[in-house]
Amino acid sequence: MLVSVNTLSSFLALAGFTSAAFYKRETTSISLYAYGGTLGGLNVFYADSLAYVGFVSPVGASVTSNITVNEDASDDTVAWTITANSTDASSIDGMELYIIPTNGSFAQVGFVSSTNTSSLPTGAVTTGFSWFGKNAAYDDPSGALNLFYWAEPVTETDGLWRLMWNQAGTPTNGSVPITLKNTAPLPATPDANTVAELLL
Ligand SMILES: *[C@@H]1O[C@H](CO)[C@@H](O)[C@H](O)[C@H]1NC(C)=O
Ligand SMILES: *[C@@H]1O[C@H](CO)[C@@H](O)[C@H](O)[C@H]1NC(C)=O
Ligand SMILES: *[C@@H]1O[C@H](CO)[C@@H](O)[C@H](O)[C@H]1NC(C)=O
Ligand SMILES: *[C@@H]1O[C@H](CO)[C@@H](O)[C@H](O)[C@H]1NC(C)=O
Ligand SMILES: *[C@@H]1O[C@H](CO)[C@@H](O)[C@H](O)[C@H]1NC(C)=O
Repeated sequence: MLVSVNTLSSFLALAGFTSAAFYKRETTSISLYAYGGTLGGLNVFYADSLAYVGFVSPVGASVTSNITVNEDASDDTVAWTITANSTDASSIDGMELYIIPTNGSFAQVGFVSSTNTSSLPTGAVTTGFSWFGKNAAYDDPSGALNLFYWAEPVTETDGLWRLMWNQAGTPTNGSVPITLKNTAPLPATPDANTVAELLL
């Protein structure tokens, strides 16, 4: 059967309308924890528009805060926004997570104001985020799921790492591949169900 471009686009427009009308968006608020190397589930946090991992803030940062990430696991075209855990950092509420998935890039993950994306670095994206099991992933335009999060130690500060995205770039010394999960580290005396859950 021949389908004209007009017929097809009407059909697609209708399909889009239908899904918008009948499928409810499901936004979930989570925290992100880094696992890998010596990072046994350290939390991801915000410092001056960049993403870090650990429990010590970068020296000289003016706005730092733990964050909650608001994401829609059913729709990777929706940006992941953040909400500050500290009330005195509410100016960062609504900022969007970005990574730089440009071939050969090894660059720090960051956050951009959703109302002013002019400070977004070249090649950065704020959509395409999804999950592979319990691991935060990125769906690239070819449809491949990539899990290229790395942590690079900040040499002058113990207990602090930059959260990086490694699109086959050259990692610098000491950086380690990690996975980002929405599950907190195991409690000191985990029960069998918690262990089973975290191993999924
Ligand atoms: C985030 O929370 C952890 C544990 O509650 C705390 O040790 C850390 O200082 C907090 N980080 C920021 C940037 O507020
Ligand atoms: C941030 O706040 C959320 C929601 O209250 C909480 O579940 C999470 O543990 C907090 N993160 C840190 C690192 O304190
Ligand atoms: C990335 O760059 C490398 C080296 O320039 C090249 O061999 C490779 O094909 C590129 N990959 C993609 C997906 O473009
Ligand atoms: C948008 O962000 C850029 C870079 O951070 C800044 O120079 C500019 O003033 C901002 N514009 C608005 C309208 O806030
Ligand atoms: C990593 O460290 C080694 C040994 O100190 C050094 O030879 C090398 O140039 C370093 N590589 C990078 C990318 O900094």
